[in-house]
Amino acid sequence: MGGDKLAIQRTDIEAEARLERGLADVVAAMTRLSHVDGVEGKLSYCGYDVIDLARYATYEETVYLLLYGDLPGSAQLSALRSELARYRRVNPALLQMLRALPGAPTSMEVLRTLVSAMSALDPSPLDKSQDANLRRAKRLISQLPTLLTAHLRLRQGEEPIQPSEDLGHAANLYYMLHGAAPDALETRILDMAFILMAEHELNASTFAVRVVASTLSDLFAAFTAGMGALNGPLHGAANTESMKMLLEIGSEANVETYVQGALAAKRKIMGFGHRVYKTWDPRAVILREMLSKLNDDLPAVHWCKLADRVQDTVFKTKALYPNVDFYAGPALYGLGFPMEAFPAIFACARSVGWAAHALEQYADNHLIRPTTQYVGPEDRVYRPVQER
Ligand code: CMC
Repeated sequence: MGGDKLAIQRTDIEAEARLERGLADVVAAMTRLSHVDGVEGKLSYCGYDVIDLARYATYEETVYLLLYGDLPGSAQLSALRSELARYRRVNPALLQMLRALPGAPTSMEVLRTLVSAMSALDPSPLDKSQDANLRRAKRLISQLPTLLTAHLRLRQGEEPIQPSEDLGHAANLYYMLHGAAPDALETRILDMAFILMAEHELNASTFAVRVVASTLSDLFAAFTAGMGALNGPLHGAANTESMKMLLEIGSEANVETYVQGALAAKRKIMGFGHRVYKTWDPRAVILREMLSKLNDDLPAVHWCKLADRVQDTVFKTKALYPNVDFYAGPALYGLGFPMEAFPAIFACARSVGWAAHALEQYADNHLIRPTTQYVGPEDRVYRPVQER
């Protein structure tokens, strides 16, 4: 059947009052994890403003907050840090699998496959308790960076670097990729980016995670679905696309022509627009503020200035605001991460949000199974193939 036959006319959909296209504004779950106020441009995790968390907290504190619902005291934080650090080493079978996997267009395909394989290596697959799921969640949060950086190094002909148990979560990811620990400023930028990408209520990937969890399938299956959803350019791969665009624009002199041309041709400008925010995305605000304070000789600064110029032009032309991905691109690029891996880095950061949502779903489960409005032909009479 041709694609045009599969496409349903918008008028059919619009005539149907029960359909919320793209489930916009439909409340599909209750959560204690985060709240997005799209009008005011505010985001909070468990009641804490994300701007405060980004300014003053660490990723590990954020992980504790999302998994346990409260910020940790110092003993709790240090116990979580040690636990996450202990989990960093991965099963050697995963590294073998990694060596056997051919190159893929993006690192996410590889990471997603390994997460799926982790299910087969689970030491207690029949234990569905919340405690067992919490342990699985921590293993996933700890091991995604190990797997991702091992893949990135193997792809460039280098051996994986064993994780450090002394570095913080984000700094260890940088270390396993580059072979040297980041300086204090680089650590801060990466930690902040991780905090900002950790959780965002019912975005497409988290919804996918909750749908899979709601069938009582395991956490690895739920993550695999989430990673598939995150890797699309309308969601987590917008950071790669927006960075590619900045590179293509190259300098401030080209911004006006590029933006006007793209909008006139009805092309989307990646890193702009949002289903919920109708103003600045607070995550973009704080990342931009952080990047704009850096020394002029750091590579991220050039890209951030160019991004500001693009932002100005897009806003003047179409009143669109940037989202987190627009400034995450320059931040990650400035830290030397390959562009194709940006969505997979996003997955590493978002792993805690996905895990916390799956745990919330398991704790009070109700199968998520919406319905459709049938708009196809009816009462057709079957005829054998020879008569068609
Ligand atoms: N560039 C140009 N026009 C845009 C853009 C954009 N980035 N975003 C929205 N619009 C226009 C769109 O063309 C439409 O215009 P019109 O009414 O004239 O047809 C209008 O704004 C509404 O857009 P929509 O796509 O119907 O809105 P949505 O709520 O379905 O889409 C979105 C939200 C994020 C998919 C969309 O804004 C988009 O495609 N943005 C670019 C991709 C992107 O940056 N994604 C990252 C999202 S935030 C991080 C994350 O969750 O991963």
